[in-house]
Amino acid sequence: MEQRGPSEPQAPPAPAPPQARPEFEVVPQPVAGTGGLTVEGLVKGFDQVTAVDRLTMAVRPGEILALLGPNGAGKTTTLLCLAGLLRPDAGMIAWDGRRLGVERSRQMALISETPEVYEMLTVWEHLVFVARSCKVDSSWPARAERLLERFDLTDKRDTLGDGLSKGMRQKLLIACAVLARTPVLLLDEPMIGLDPKGQRELRDLLVEIRGQGGAIVVSTHLLEYIDTLCDRIVILNKGRAILSGGLDEIRHQRNDRNLEDIFLEVTR
Ligand SMILES: Nc1ncnc2c1ncn2[C@@H]1O[C@H](COP(=O)(O)OP(=O)(O)OP(=O)(O)O)[C@@H](O)[C@H]1O
Ligand SMILES: [Mg+2]
Repeated sequence: MEQRGPSEPQAPPAPAPPQARPEFEVVPQPVAGTGGLTVEGLVKGFDQVTAVDRLTMAVRPGEILALLGPNGAGKTTTLLCLAGLLRPDAGMIAWDGRRLGVERSRQMALISETPEVYEMLTVWEHLVFVARSCKVDSSWPARAERLLERFDLTDKRDTLGDGLSKGMRQKLLIACAVLARTPVLLLDEPMIGLDPKGQRELRDLLVEIRGQGGAIVVSTHLLEYIDTLCDRIVILNKGRAILSGGLDEIRHQRNDRNLEDIFLEVTR
């Protein structure tokens, strides 16, 4: 730390450094003492639209939260804000009670709606890239091989990203995100484009990750797929959470109706 004695000649005042723009502003209260991922008062607007409007939600380690809502409800925008790919206008995102800034991508891996892979890297090189950049433990090659097997990609190991079908790209991105072993996994419509076996494998993987204490947020329109999978739900409409909470509790309050019925009722 810089220390100056009293006799040292006074330097002319340095010009004030440009004020770093805060990553985004805190709107409501400080983080509650809950573990896991906490989002409070998240706001993101585009020119004419408030895509996410004061969204508050939480998902604990070992839980799957389903982010639901009609087209344009704000699901993708929320996930992009969480992953650090969009800058929120306001709100707070925290992990384990610690507010996260731009470095939050270290805590969260996002499998995005549009499966974009590196065209000039092979399948295996994608996994090497993730393993090195995320500094995963040295046992990763065996895990990576197993993920390729599960998603029927073993024979595509040396194929360039350019030569993969859409579903294969999606599977590769899932494998990369899972390999990174971030505490939070974000998935935006991950089932679209996956064949039935791929959908089953993904479901099994999510259950395994939950069992290992991962916190998962998955956005989807396939309500029957996640009805028996998710622990909590947030239903968005025009950027606002219109229903949120534990699925069992919500079901109980609504005469044990299934998720699809609940969704259709509240978004009517
Ligand atoms: N880059 C953008 N520029 C302007 N408006 C945008 C942009 N991205 C999203 N929006 C708007 O924000 C709102 C929320 O969009 P978003 O993509 O988050 O919805 P979604 O819930 O993911 O919908 P879907 O189910 O169709 O994927 C929409 O009104 C959309 O038109
Ligand atoms: Mg979307």
